[in-house]
Amino acid sequence: MTYQNYSLKQLQQIDAAHHLHPFTDHKEMREAGSRIIAHANGPFIYDSDGTEILDGMAGLWCVNVGYGRDELADAAYAQMKELPYYNSFFKCSTPTPVLLAKKLTELAPKHVNQVFYGSSGSEANDTALRLVRHYWALEGKPEKNRIISRKSAYHGSTIAGASLGGMEQMHNQLHGAVPNIVHVMMPYAYELSLPGESDHDFGLRAAKAVEDAILEAGADKVAAFIGEPVMGAGGVKIPPMSYWPEVQRICRKYDVLLMLDEVITGYGRTGEWFAAQTFGIEPDTITTAKALTSGYQPLSALLVGDRIAATLVEKGGEFYHGYTYAGHPVACAVALKNLEIMEREGLVERVKNDTGPYFAKALQERIGGHDLVGEVRSIGLMGAIEIVRDKATKERFLPAGSTAVLVRDHAVAQGMMLRATGDTMILSPPLIWTRETIDMACDRIAKALDLAQADLHKR
Ligand SMILES: Cc1ncc(COP(=O)(O)O)c(C=O)c1O
Repeated sequence: MTYQNYSLKQLQQIDAAHHLHPFTDHKEMREAGSRIIAHANGPFIYDSDGTEILDGMAGLWCVNVGYGRDELADAAYAQMKELPYYNSFFKCSTPTPVLLAKKLTELAPKHVNQVFYGSSGSEANDTALRLVRHYWALEGKPEKNRIISRKSAYHGSTIAGASLGGMEQMHNQLHGAVPNIVHVMMPYAYELSLPGESDHDFGLRAAKAVEDAILEAGADKVAAFIGEPVMGAGGVKIPPMSYWPEVQRICRKYDVLLMLDEVITGYGRTGEWFAAQTFGIEPDTITTAKALTSGYQPLSALLVGDRIAATLVEKGGEFYHGYTYAGHPVACAVALKNLEIMEREGLVERVKNDTGPYFAKALQERIGGHDLVGEVRSIGLMGAIEIVRDKATKERFLPAGSTAVLVRDHAVAQGMMLRATGDTMILSPPLIWTRETIDMACDRIAKALDLAQADLHKR
């Protein structure tokens, strides 16, 4: 690697001159300069000046086994030498996607026995959308094609992904979303529950919004409901435990398919291999990506339940859909090794029984009481910190999101990478975090909150 021949400033200049980034205001970035992460090890990332930062976001919700895993590099190297690429079109296959499909269906809920590969979560959601509509067409009901999603959902950045998602800013730039997708309320109790309403009742009310949308369209027009088990990019919004079983009951009542987007929650994040298991539901499709390879290779897997798979196979006819890199042998070899590491080290059980509960307690006890914090919440190793001006009234600072960005910038300066989305700070660390790493993170976040509060007082 030759980046060492360049100074940070030079890299930033080249970056600004030639590299368009995702989800970035390029004018602003060119003025501020980009943050260049040059290498990483274990739970830490290092910028090109060598500054060490604790990575509270596992890259982008993906590096679950942490950085610097030689075994994953070796698996990729060995596979590249053996067979770097061959396609899985036209009745061909290669060994690693076959073995990975077997492994994934062993880990997934019992009724899930088929896998369709892509290279990203967005692609996998495209596939899921195509597949559920194709399913109903094969069943002789092509008009049953409407999808119900939720406001503030994130399902990716392709046109289908953004259309399925409920992010207003993204829709505003679509200039024509995929038709027949509607968005209902999200299960976000902190802002949407009524005075005196229990968490349980709020969960049922949020689920009722799905039923209302089905009835409004007519059940014979609705193909599926799609949701993230825990809304991630929208601000780690954790639904009440009553929500998902009720959504599933409603979907079954009206014969509407259930699509679960587990791009973030898949592979251990909530303390089970899949959040479907955490919430006790049996979705017809489960979209996964990210931690499938711990981000060491781009790979997604749409896990397909028996109901859809049976129709696809029994009715036959070509499904005109697929990607060149579907089932990429190198990515699948890395995924197999990644899952082996997770199992060997018991990372999922550790989140469930040790680090997840410890993380929840540490956030409550050490962050939750801060003047700037309205609520902390977590499930497994994903958490959120709500930034407020007034704890009692939940009033936010203006302009919206500005104080969260201030806290984020102080946190990074303290050696703690976390994300600010709106007025919510988000954490989604590698699953290798220990109690000590959680303590270190809380110390740094508490310091960042104090510094932000001091800045606000000066204003
Ligand atoms: C829930 C969810 N779905 C889909 C995606 C899109 O995945 P990708 O960026 O790999 O296309 C993301 C990305 O963060 C996500 O959080």
